[in-house]
Amino acid sequence: MNILIINIKELVQVENACREWVAGAEMASLKTIKDAYLMISRGKISDFGKMSDLFMPEDAGNRRLQIIDARGKMVFPAFCDSHTHLVYAGSREIEYVDKIRGLSYEEIAKRGGGILNSAKRLHEASETELIAQAMERLEEIMHYGTGAVEIKSGYGLNAQDELKMLRVISKLKEFSPLTIKSTFLGAHAVPAEFKGRQHEYVDVVINEMIPMVATENLADYIDVFCDKGFFTTEDTERILMAGIKYGLRPKIHANELDYSGGIQVGVKYNALSVDHLEYTGDAEIRALSGSETMPAILPGAAFFLNMPLAPARKMIDAGLPVALASDFNPGSSPSGNMQLILSMGCILYRMTPEEAINATTLNGAYAMGVSDELGSIAIGKKANVFITKPIPSVEFMPYAYGSNKVESLILEGKIMF
Ligand code: NIG
Ligand code: FE
Repeated sequence: MNILIINIKELVQVENACREWVAGAEMASLKTIKDAYLMISRGKISDFGKMSDLFMPEDAGNRRLQIIDARGKMVFPAFCDSHTHLVYAGSREIEYVDKIRGLSYEEIAKRGGGILNSAKRLHEASETELIAQAMERLEEIMHYGTGAVEIKSGYGLNAQDELKMLRVISKLKEFSPLTIKSTFLGAHAVPAEFKGRQHEYVDVVINEMIPMVATENLADYIDVFCDKGFFTTEDTERILMAGIKYGLRPKIHANELDYSGGIQVGVKYNALSVDHLEYTGDAEIRALSGSETMPAILPGAAFFLNMPLAPARKMIDAGLPVALASDFNPGSSPSGNMQLILSMGCILYRMTPEEAINATTLNGAYAMGVSDELGSIAIGKKANVFITKPIPSVEFMPYAYGSNKVESLILEGKIMF
């Protein structure tokens, strides 16, 4: 079935020539069309423009063309959430209380909480249980306007459980209407049985896990938690080199807890993105300049852990692109609500609404390797769009934080709700 959306108050993030990403001063511009229409054919965007230029197709009124009147409402490309850990078992609100009482993320991790706590629960959960929990989370993020999501492993921490997680993600790709990319994150934490023998665990990741993941074709990307108290830059280099040999492009956690050198390592190995970036100074900005690596900021984790904020303003002013993602996970960001991330981008990071929208759509798409098919309203791209409730302006989207402004979601030309 084809869909024609008419009387759109404002059609947001339109592109005539497709760009891979937007960087620096360009991030402040967001092309929109007021009083617009959008035509969707065979799951793809086939036409758009001003209502005054709409030439009613011959099959209008035919059962194969559904017409949606979006008077007073806006249409956006669905959000592309380029960094999540949304396959996990159970929740960790006890640690949340410990954090409120003053324990740091690293202190909780050292006591066997944190990622290791999730690894224990994941080990005990069946694939079916994990799929059911993750499908519920996917359903929830769709209601907030997400149309594409990257999901990492990293709560397995042994070959068997890492593969279990990645197989679950493969099933989600099959069952869910969302566009999903999967990332192998065997080096998320050092499991308890390797305490004091981190090098040996890195060997297991390289010699056992990566070959198995690649043979079963279970991952699109490879990640390492390169940070103080987790994996060193040397560990990271070894793992990334091994992954690259198997065709896995890096997309890494870097500089969340310290100036860890992670950003430089990511750029050196041509990572698709380096993520978190709370500790980013001039040297890191210089390293990113001119590279093909997207800096991705995760406001939910910084907010939830009460951490310093990544210098988004400084990065954009230096000419870099920036993506914003949710980091949906049980320990540092138990929410995948990209509308909230959009608001945080503006409120906490002083990004303008235009910059934050670019960061959650086109730049998010780049950071998960799908900007050729998603992230903007462009002819030939997948028809992943949401229709808002009646709203007064584009700026209202980040302004009205905490309330859901999404009324309807279309994924690959199918109306989800
Ligand atoms: O992106 N920083 C590392 N990993 C996750 C946290 C995972 C967890 O605590 O379970 C993150 O914040
Ligand atoms: Fe993360």
